[in-house]
Amino acid sequence: MDSQARFGMTIDYTGMMQSKQNPNGFLKAELQNLQVVLDKAQTTLLNRRDAGEIDFSKLLVTMKNLLPEIIEYANTVSTKIENFVVLGIGGSALGPLAVHQALNHYYYNELPPEKRGYRPRLYVMDNIDPVRFSELLRLVDPRETLFNVVSKSGNTSETMAQFLIVRDTLRRICGDSRYAEHIVVTTDREKGNLLPIALTEGYKRFVIPAGIGGRFSELTPVGLLPAAICGIDVQQLLEGALDMDERIRETQGVFSNPAQLRAALALLSWQKGKNISVFMPYADGLKTMADWYAQLWAESLGKRYDRQGREVHVGQTPVKALGVTDQHSQVQLYAEGPDDKVITFVAVEKFNETQQIPIDLKLPDDIQFLGGKTLAELLWAEQKATEYALTLAGRQHNKILLPSLDPYSVGQLLLLLEWETAYMGELLNINAFDQPGVEEGKNGTYALMGRKGYETKKHEIEEYGKIKYVLNSETMKKV
Ligand code: PA5
Repeated sequence: MDSQARFGMTIDYTGMMQSKQNPNGFLKAELQNLQVVLDKAQTTLLNRRDAGEIDFSKLLVTMKNLLPEIIEYANTVSTKIENFVVLGIGGSALGPLAVHQALNHYYYNELPPEKRGYRPRLYVMDNIDPVRFSELLRLVDPRETLFNVVSKSGNTSETMAQFLIVRDTLRRICGDSRYAEHIVVTTDREKGNLLPIALTEGYKRFVIPAGIGGRFSELTPVGLLPAAICGIDVQQLLEGALDMDERIRETQGVFSNPAQLRAALALLSWQKGKNISVFMPYADGLKTMADWYAQLWAESLGKRYDRQGREVHVGQTPVKALGVTDQHSQVQLYAEGPDDKVITFVAVEKFNETQQIPIDLKLPDDIQFLGGKTLAELLWAEQKATEYALTLAGRQHNKILLPSLDPYSVGQLLLLLEWETAYMGELLNINAFDQPGVEEGKNGTYALMGRKGYETKKHEIEEYGKIKYVLNSETMKKV
């Protein structure tokens, strides 16, 4: 198959396996022994895909067909605006942020327009901190700004609150006849409270397909629109995703199928007490990819009940780290603290820039040795040295090596991690596609904010709030 030739990444799992330096590592046989459950997982996942339950894979082709519309819209509007602001949270924000940071200039917003290809600045408002939000509204001129309201459910309080503030601001500044031109909505085709407003008020609209949950939605208009607006090659992004998708669906065997391999390693590590999964890219461009991964892994796999309704409380806690920065912050703990972590490094083979370190022979040897090398070499050396140090410390780690930070490789990475999560859900016998644990908090917020129908919940929370164990100036006793 074509994807065979284009599979550019390497998954190096040496650091998970038994060696002279790491006698506690896994044996090949342990991975082989999982093949039966992996095959069963593959059958179940592919059946669920056919049944329309795993649409992040199935609808990639539909998304490819939608690209011309997205690109045309993006090209048309991006020349007319200075700023593109995404209003969304969780799965509606982390993907766009991750892909933007991976593929655009690190200081994209600070660049002059010609260096951004005359594309707008991008702001992703993934929180409701009142200070940050007010500051943004003072920073951007609403007349020069397009706001992208992204909400699958169309009901999320945070996004709806942002939307109401923006809509009001736009009405005041642009007037009732023009404000709608500054809003583009990405939401479900049929459901939610955002949709009727969008239809009545005439906003441009893109659809998030029904079978794709927030954290799996980066390669739908949720992520494709902001990426296209900011000049990313979304065709290549989707191409990489499609290739990885095909490989994962069509390859048999734990040593050939990248998602099976990574899920099997994750399962074995989980069974051996590694409750924490660290995601540590060695490229600043992938810093927010770690945030995206953390949500994907945590929300999909952290579950109380298994499929039979038994209480299981499963899930590895994802930790985001960044090489080399966190070598000077976290790695001490990874090497010598509790042996409860498995670390995934993500490294990049070829950076767009390497940055030469100058030679100065007058300097002491202890500094001089750096001269003539590049920052890229230093980064790789530090990554490899950390790998080796962790091996000596008996700690398990693996590495995803990307040929470069290009749209195709990033598309591949997204799909690999999504499929790996889906496989891990099967291996843990839980539903990776729901998030019942966040619903209680959402309902509590509705109640406290006075939404109709939540009066009992409000009372319940207020009663709970009466019990207080606090330390403050009143309870503090002077000795
Ligand atoms: O992954 C998920 O499903 C969540 O993180 C959602 O994306 C998040 O809660 C936002 O939901 P919505 O897009 O419906 O506003």
